[in-house]
Amino acid sequence: MNELTADEIVDLCLKHTLYDWQQQGTTRPIAVASARGSEFFTVGGKRYLDFNSQLMGVNIGHADPRVAEAIAQQARTLPYISPFMATEVRARLGQKLAELMPGDLDKVFFTLGGAEANENAIRIAKAVTGRNKILARYRSYHGATYATISLTGDPRRWGNEPGMPGVVHVLDPYHGTQRGTDDAATALAYLEETVMLEGPATIAAFILEPVTGTNGILIPPEGYLQGVRELCDRHGILLIADEVMSGFGRTGEWFAVNHWGVVPDIITMAKGLTSSAVPLGAVGLRPSVYRYFDEHVYWGGLTYNSHPLACAAALATINVYEEDGLIDRSRKLGEVMAGHHQELSDKHASVGLVRNLGLFGILELVRSRETMEPMAPFNGTSDEMKAIGKYLDDRGLFTMVRWNQIMTNPPLCITEEQLAEGFAIIDGALDAADAAVA
Ligand SMILES: Cc1ncc(COP(=O)(O)O)c(C=O)c1O
Repeated sequence: MNELTADEIVDLCLKHTLYDWQQQGTTRPIAVASARGSEFFTVGGKRYLDFNSQLMGVNIGHADPRVAEAIAQQARTLPYISPFMATEVRARLGQKLAELMPGDLDKVFFTLGGAEANENAIRIAKAVTGRNKILARYRSYHGATYATISLTGDPRRWGNEPGMPGVVHVLDPYHGTQRGTDDAATALAYLEETVMLEGPATIAAFILEPVTGTNGILIPPEGYLQGVRELCDRHGILLIADEVMSGFGRTGEWFAVNHWGVVPDIITMAKGLTSSAVPLGAVGLRPSVYRYFDEHVYWGGLTYNSHPLACAAALATINVYEEDGLIDRSRKLGEVMAGHHQELSDKHASVGLVRNLGLFGILELVRSRETMEPMAPFNGTSDEMKAIGKYLDDRGLFTMVRWNQIMTNPPLCITEEQLAEGFAIIDGALDAADAAVA
């Protein structure tokens, strides 16, 4: 299929295009030719099992023919029209999302991806409240634009500072393998104190990932999100749920907030909305928020707002979630995943913590279960974690190995056999990691 060799592709990509988040001189990407379901194939023909849905976004699986056909049909009739027009795909997708979003959220603004969705969410929050400051959490990722990298708490922010003024970061309930997780009351007391010290009337919104993604698949302690909702209500602070990663079945619900019955004022989504087939994001709003714009100008816009190709891809993708029962499947396979996690934890001394909600999962490796010292430091790596990454890659298991963590976030269409296959490979990788345990 490819006319260039794998080396030619990689060399040209490196020569003429810039790669994300790394020194260009040290990276050597995989030349990928095709993908299907939970697998992808290199130009050389090597098969990879995708245990991270790429960037936790290919939720329905790769290259679904139903989505491909919808995109092709839209491309033949109306690939693009200005966002000032009305189209049937935009109408239908807006209506469908109104049905799927939690509570009374029933209007969306379409963007190209997650960062733009968050960017518009905070613009809306500032306009509607007339306040300037935004609360965000340290263990978070909200995007790489100027504003959203400022909201981001993780170390990817450091190289982008100074960023947007007015962002206040707060600690999460989770404090790492050694300090563990606060209960909801403790976490909320700290949050309330921060709000008081910052001045509640200066804070427009609190943005958070209901289940944090790249920063560790952090599932909030029971009562935390409900408490955040109550605190925001008490102070007129809008709650923005960033569901760019946790939405669309990843946790076994359409949106992660549904696990706790919490309705945010604003919800952002991308990735799973089109299963990453075409770039699309959205900002969902409840009437108490969007009514403001009935009488005020919305000072925002995008050439590709409501792009017909992307809307068609999203409608077809949502249809696949429904037709194949993928949201329920994520919940059920989540139990299977929890079983695999437990088995690895029972067998390997290097497994310090395991977590998952639906097919959103992670293993945290430690050097000792007594001290819970992580197998790699915060924002760093170690020989052991590098060896694990290489072991998985050699055996065709694609996933994210970050710091002391191994992610387990396969497409929701993965079979139980494929899930077992992936965990068997991780099992093998952990043998070497155990040797490093004190
Ligand atoms: C929670 C969350 N928010 C926002 C983003 C940014 O999305 P995008 O890369 O589409 O701009 C991401 C991307 O990983 C994310 O995980």
